[in-house]
Order: sequence, then structure tokens, then C-alpha cells
Amino acid sequence: MTAFLTIEDYRLDIPTFDGDLKVLDGITLSLEKGETLGIVGESGCGKTVLARSILGIGPARGKRMSGRMVFDSIELDELDESEWRRIRGVKISMIFQDPMTYLNPLFTIGRQLADVVVAHGRAKAERTPSRDEQRRRCDALLEQVQIRDSARVFDSYPHQLSGGMRQRVLIAMALAGEPQLLIADEPTTALDVTIQAQILELLRDLVSRLGLTVVMISHDVGAIAAIARRVAVMYAGVVVEQGRTEDILTRPRHPYTQGLLAALPEIEGERHVLEAIPGTIPNLIHPPSGCRFHPRCPRATDICSVEKPVARSIGADHVVACHHALA
Ligand SMILES: Nc1ncnc2c1ncn2[C@@H]1O[C@H](COP(=O)(O)OP(=O)(O)OP(=O)(O)O)[C@@H](O)[C@H]1O
Ligand SMILES: [Mg+2]
Repeated sequence: MTAFLTIEDYRLDIPTFDGDLKVLDGITLSLEKGETLGIVGESGCGKTVLARSILGIGPARGKRMSGRMVFDSIELDELDESEWRRIRGVKISMIFQDPMTYLNPLFTIGRQLADVVVAHGRAKAERTPSRDEQRRRCDALLEQVQIRDSARVFDSYPHQLSGGMRQRVLIAMALAGEPQLLIADEPTTALDVTIQAQILELLRDLVSRLGLTVVMISHDVGAIAAIARRVAVMYAGVVVEQGRTEDILTRPRHPYTQGLLAALPEIEGERHVLEAIPGTIPNLIHPPSGCRFHPRCPRATDICSVEKPVARSIGADHVVACHHALA
């Protein structure tokens, strides 16, 4: 099957006063149509920067050093801003990490949702829908995210809704352009546990009903396990391991993945004896030479500080970048 989204050796630097942050160091990922890929990794490892780069809204001064991104045969790096307007929110859409930042406190939900509906219509060169039509589309979107009292929600201001309802509204907005690829950046992190489960259930339902292709980012491995067929594990701007979710969770081959899972109390089944990974993620202006994980790695040897490990296939749909991958 041909990939729907391909990311190849993508390298991104962000210049700062102290030097360039080497934020993404050769990311290679691919996604088939209708598939859900989870991306996990510690805070600061570059998940959001990667997600935003797929949407052409990477950091303002970010410099692509190498690589490409191809979505549905479109070379994303070659699009200009007017071409992006026909892709962003329309073909590729994103649910952002911080819901409150993306809702305007001064306008009702209905007004904001209608604005999105109108803007997407414009991007698709449709005529502006009438007020009634706008309302019908908004109601349909709210229904799609299982908001039953859409009349109340429509007339509410963001602060009048619970966190879970706000997240549903943001998902509705992300769906307004009928995207094919949805990027969900920590869609449940800001919510409490029972609401998290409901939002995950909603996302799962949307994936199967709308045939969406999804990139779901989270540092909650449990959430990823509940929704993603495949998982990529990121460490300091590198995908260290990727494969089918059950393989990654039950038979991790990269010492980092193993440490990440061992640090989680809620993963059931076989548990490997390994204390939480000591240390913190490295400074990305002067990242460690060779394997970026080597200063924290229990298996590191001389080669690890010298040579960057090449991602290699170690089984059906299982890739690991480590000189000493676990057996
Ligand atoms: N606009 C920016 N300017 C400078 N540095 C940035 C910018 N955006 C991100 N960074 C840096 O890039 C690195 C990756 O950040 P990113 O937000 O992608 O991490 P993350 O994996 O999403 O973390 P979290 O789990 O906390 O959301 C961090 O070191 C961060 O400080
Ligand atoms: Mg983030």
C-alpha cells in the first residue's frame, strides 16, 4: 500500500541567541490511509514541533535542514501560503494541545464555529452559506462530536463550558473542513480521567465513522494504546523505535522505550525490571554525539557516543534505531 503521509529524514533547527536548537534530527515516518499512528515521548522531545511542521506552521524561525514531507502526493515543503490555505484545516487539521488558547473568550461557541464553517467554505471556493445553512452545519458538527444540547452550547461562551465540552467543540472545529488527516496534539492531557476516556472514545468513533487518518500525540502511553494501531517513540528529536502498538508495548526493543514503559504503573502484563530512566533530556543546542540517548542509556558502549544508529528493521513493521537493541 502506498503511504498517505510520508516524512523522510526531516531535520529542523531553531536559531536562538545561544546557538541553533537541533529540534528534529532526521525524522522518518509513514502513515497509511485510515491508520492511526501514536507518537509518544517525554516533554520537550519535539512532538509538537513535528506536528505543527506537518501543518506548515512550524516555529517562525525554524529552518528545515533536510528531508521532505509528502501528503497524498503533495510535497508539503513546496507549498506557498495560498496553497496552504487549501490544505490547512481542509485536508489536514489539528486539535491543539492547549484548548483555551484556541477559543476566543469574547465570542459565543456558535459564532466561532460558524466563522470556521464560512472560512472553510471560502477555502473550497464555495459560496458563503446563508445564516440558516451555517446553523445547520454547526448543529451537524456538534452532533458529530456527540454534543446533544447543541442549542445551549451554540449560545454559550467558552468559560461556560466544561473542559470536556470545550475539547469536543475544538474537535468539531477541526472537523469543519472535512479533513482527511487529523493531528491530535495531547487531546486529553488537560482533562480529568473520566473525561479523557470519553474524548478517546469519541476520537475512536470518529476515526471509524469518517475513515480519518490520525496522528495522535501524547505522553500518555495508555491513551495511545487505546487508539493507535502503530506507535512511534521519540527521544530528543529522533524516532528511536516504531512499530505495531502491541509489539512496542509488550516487546520494546529500544532501551529508551523500555525505560519509558517501566516508568508507567498502568501498563498491564509482563513488566520489565528497570527503574525510571535517570537524567533528563539533553540540551538540543549541543546534543550528545552519536546516539542522543547514550548519556542516559544503561546499555551504552563506546560506539554509541560516536556513531548515530541507523534505523533498521528488526521484524514485521518494527524499526529500531539502536546499536544494542534488546533481544
Ligand atoms: N518557537 C520556538 N522557539 C524556540 N524553541 C522552541 C520553539 N518551539 C519549540 N521549541 C523547543 O523545541 C523543543 C521541542 O518542543 P516541543 O514543544 O515540540 O516538545 P513536546 O515534545 O511537544 O513537549 P510537550 O510534551 O511538553 O508538549 C523544546 O526544546 C522547545 O523548547
Ligand atoms: Mg507538545
